[in-house]
Amino acid sequence: MTSLMIQSSTHDYEVVLQAGIRHELSHHINDTYRMVLVVTDDKVAQYYLDEVTNSLKEHYEVHTSVVPSGESSKSMAQYEKLLDDCFEAQLDRKSLIIALGGGMVGDLAGFVASTYLRGIDFIQMPTTILAHDSSVGGKVAINHTKGKNLIGSFYNPVKVIYDIETLTTLPEEEIRSGYGEVIKHALLSDEDWVKELFQLSLPLLTTEQLTDDLTKGIRVKADIVEKDEREQGLRRHLNLGHTLAHAIETELGYGGITHGEAVAIGIAFSLQLSEAKLTSSLPVKDYVNWIKKNDYPFHTLKGLDTDRLIERMKWDKKAVSQNIHYVLLTSVGSPCVMPVGEEELTDELNRFFREVIYS
Ligand SMILES: NC(=O)c1ccc[n+]([C@@H]2O[C@H](COP(=O)([O-])OP(=O)(O)OC[C@H]3O[C@@H](n4cnc5c(N)ncnc54)[C@H](O)[C@@H]3O)[C@@H](O)[C@H]2O)c1
Ligand SMILES: [Zn+2]
Repeated sequence: MTSLMIQSSTHDYEVVLQAGIRHELSHHINDTYRMVLVVTDDKVAQYYLDEVTNSLKEHYEVHTSVVPSGESSKSMAQYEKLLDDCFEAQLDRKSLIIALGGGMVGDLAGFVASTYLRGIDFIQMPTTILAHDSSVGGKVAINHTKGKNLIGSFYNPVKVIYDIETLTTLPEEEIRSGYGEVIKHALLSDEDWVKELFQLSLPLLTTEQLTDDLTKGIRVKADIVEKDEREQGLRRHLNLGHTLAHAIETELGYGGITHGEAVAIGIAFSLQLSEAKLTSSLPVKDYVNWIKKNDYPFHTLKGLDTDRLIERMKWDKKAVSQNIHYVLLTSVGSPCVMPVGEEELTDELNRFFREVIYS
């Protein structure tokens, strides 16, 4: 078992990683709870819901709520439905919500937990690699037609229980997606780790390497959010690659590419831009080779209009005034945020499309 402690403004919480931990949950959950509501999506439910409820029901009264898999469940309608489920199950302030699933379930169930009866405890049980990122740091939210994550709160779980055995059923694109955020955490922190990842072929990923990468990634994220929980400054570094990624995701329509795949491609552009603007010496070529070797879907960008992408980037909620504030690297492990003018960004994006997307 691997264990990390995360500090937050409200309480400290533990992240435990262990293969098969879903079968012995009652050893890891406080026995003062009377009732537990497990929230999951219909894909994760097929694999793991029975095992999780079986491991809880000796000790707690267990209720379950299953929402459809996919980003569209992070909606007002599903939020309301889950609140109805909480009332129907008569959850009280001594009850617990468990979010069993990827970032979608974590964000949705966490937001329900943060508002039901002004907040009840919740535990994150991530089942995707990407959720090593989303389950830590306390951001919970649902989407609005105006944009992603616009209705939410900062609300930390009481614990994160990560059963890495559940990651064995992830489809390839979700492994790539998770590793988009893993390599982001590596680039923000540690050159040796980046070099190690460049050797990695995702289809050959071992449990040891995965556990190691998740633990390191969680530590990097935790170190940043512990210093800047409310995104006043430092936390913006976690947006490395995300400005272009959000534009790509919106242009392709949700479902056209996974979030972490778009982030991995967005990072390639951030590295190129960092070299151009800061004359940084960065492993741009090795990085592009790595994501191409691992089948990140560059081809989906062919045909996208760069002017439209720039427009989208200007509307990204992280853009301030006329300039787009971009997360760049002066070197691996040294991020910074810099304003980039529209003309420069357009030139660099066109060069990125010529040299990386179409080459
Ligand atoms: N709160 C944060 O700080 C934060 C950070 C990053 C991302 N997010 C949010 O996270 C969400 C993306 O998370 P995600 O990539 O985990 O997506 P997801 O939760 O939608 O999961 C991706 C897909 O994998 C399936 N799945 C999940 N676990 C599985 C398993 N073990 N085996 C087989 N299939 C499985 C799901 O049903 C879904 O189809 C977005 O909504 C994003 O906004 C939040
Ligand atoms: Zn992300």
